[in-house]
Amino acid sequence: MHAIEKRNSLFNSLAHSVMNSHDANFWLQKINPLWSINQSLAKIVKKQIVAKDTVSLILQCNRHVTRGVAGQHHPVTVDIAGRHYERTYSLMPVDADHLCLTVKKVDQGLVSSWLVEQSQTGDILRLGQPYGEMQQSVATPHLLLLAAGSGITPMLSLIEGLCQSKQLNTTSVKLMYWVKTQADAAYAEYLKEVSENFAHFSYQIFYTQQQDQRLNQSHVDQLLALGQTTVYACGPSGFAASAESLFKDAAALQTEAFSLSLFDTDATETGFINVTLTQSNKTIAIPKGQSILSSLEHQGIKPNHGCRMGICNKCACNKAQGATKNLLNGAANNEPTQLLKICVNSAQSDLVIDL
Ligand code: FES
Repeated sequence: MHAIEKRNSLFNSLAHSVMNSHDANFWLQKINPLWSINQSLAKIVKKQIVAKDTVSLILQCNRHVTRGVAGQHHPVTVDIAGRHYERTYSLMPVDADHLCLTVKKVDQGLVSSWLVEQSQTGDILRLGQPYGEMQQSVATPHLLLLAAGSGITPMLSLIEGLCQSKQLNTTSVKLMYWVKTQADAAYAEYLKEVSENFAHFSYQIFYTQQQDQRLNQSHVDQLLALGQTTVYACGPSGFAASAESLFKDAAALQTEAFSLSLFDTDATETGFINVTLTQSNKTIAIPKGQSILSSLEHQGIKPNHGCRMGICNKCACNKAQGATKNLLNGAANNEPTQLLKICVNSAQSDLVIDL
């Protein structure tokens, strides 16, 4: 008996010493690319075009994938030409084993272009831990969803989550969705179907290239009970900033911006600022008024980051000294010892940060 136990434990430690998790994953994935002892993997099992330059990928997930609640974002890592690239996307629940990733090709976007144009069924993606504040449990009787362009993806996920949890039977949900043209409207058929099946759901699609119908006060005036409405907005930074000021009297307001389109092109911001990186013991000149993260990357420094949208907190570091400006809403911050998200802040004076 003792001899058998001894042999087993000897075998386990031998297996452990000759087979680390990397090797084990390598051999498991020879049998099935979704098998892994510790990696959250998803396989593309279906790909369909859902609007101009926009595809939906149905992903089969392995048991390690943590599914976020509807409206949250997942870090998604793809391998392109032997390199790993991580981006953040909102995933829609399909069933217990599948999620849907909807991606719109972004101008000069390496990952979005690859996913839209080159990805194929059978390709494997890695999914990180979900995060984000937009979630489907809403405490008010009304929910207003404002989406511009790719900002529709977390809203689709929320709508599908509300359908599946039957909350659409009781909560009144209105979606306002801005796209350039009719061809850019993703999931128009799906939205029509939901509005036909749920009396509490309504939606409007605005085509900005046909008429100037950008988000404005008239959209606020349409609402009957702003004080009893939760408002979620997702779109480019200018859109998110407008939503913040127009809907400031809502019962709850949550905005997410996925690009820095408005404030980072401020022509009044000129000149350079010195940024001292205490951990690396370096001082670097970066352009005033541009994202600190992007500016450091241009200088060959690779700070830790995830979403690049100010949501995941992965880029946050301590600011010991200096003034910064939030590129999403223009807010200035002169306080030291503030946790600074370098992806969405620019330097306004010489800075000392803990990087
Ligand atoms: S990279 Fe996600 S908050 Fe900055």
